[in-house]
Amino acid sequence: MKEAGKTPGLAVIIVGDNPASRVYVNNKKKTCAEIGMYSEEYALPEETTQDELLELVNTLNKKADIHGILVQLPLPGHIDEKTVLNAILPEKDVDAFHPVNVGKIMIGDFDFLPCTPAGIMELIAESGIELEGKNCVVVGRSNIVGKPMAMLLLHKNATVTICHSKTKNLKEICKTADVLVVAVGRAQMINDEYVKDGAVVIDVGMNRLEDKKLVGDVDFDSVAPHTAAITPVPGGVGPMTIVTLMKNTLTAAKKL
Ligand code: GUN
Repeated sequence: MKEAGKTPGLAVIIVGDNPASRVYVNNKKKTCAEIGMYSEEYALPEETTQDELLELVNTLNKKADIHGILVQLPLPGHIDEKTVLNAILPEKDVDAFHPVNVGKIMIGDFDFLPCTPAGIMELIAESGIELEGKNCVVVGRSNIVGKPMAMLLLHKNATVTICHSKTKNLKEICKTADVLVVAVGRAQMINDEYVKDGAVVIDVGMNRLEDKKLVGDVDFDSVAPHTAAITPVPGGVGPMTIVTLMKNTLTAAKKL
């Protein structure tokens, strides 16, 4: 594509200085450089107004050398996330957060898949884990991970249960899972009491303990001996999220 005069380009916008977001954005930028993609980073101050952010998104929508636009979430409280995500051109929405792309995923006719769930599906497929007819339990119902994750598992003919903070008997439900995906943002919450012997456990959590150690939502040492497969934190799901982002940017560049 480069030889043909088109280098895939990704613009990443970060507002404020959330340390976790900073790490994610740095990794995205670094990976672009590693694989020869063009990238632009817009690090805006916390007090940026919604109108200023929308103006930047509009400019990037029209920019010919940018094929993917990513606005790192969460945004500061005074900015409405929905309004901002709605403003991204669906063809450049490499996160697949725009309602048009979310709707396409729902009916199984999509251009982009959201990065973390798609990365997880790739891990599962590459590990030779069959999903058809399996009991899959997703803990967490966010728009970024939980909801689209459940949909992708459903597309593979799994039987899917979504659990959340109001779920009763969480332990018992998790224990029915052949595949357990945890995305709740609570350090080491899932221990061996939640996991059936031989289950596959996917940990989407990224939590910093007081001693600065990075841990997932799963208590790895307690759970790992009981599993058929488990993802570590760091180094499990995170890198797959980035891979999917790069794939989506490539897809966008080919189409635009
Ligand atoms: N914040 C946490 N995960 C993500 C992601 O995949 N994309 C964006 N834009 N923000 C995030």
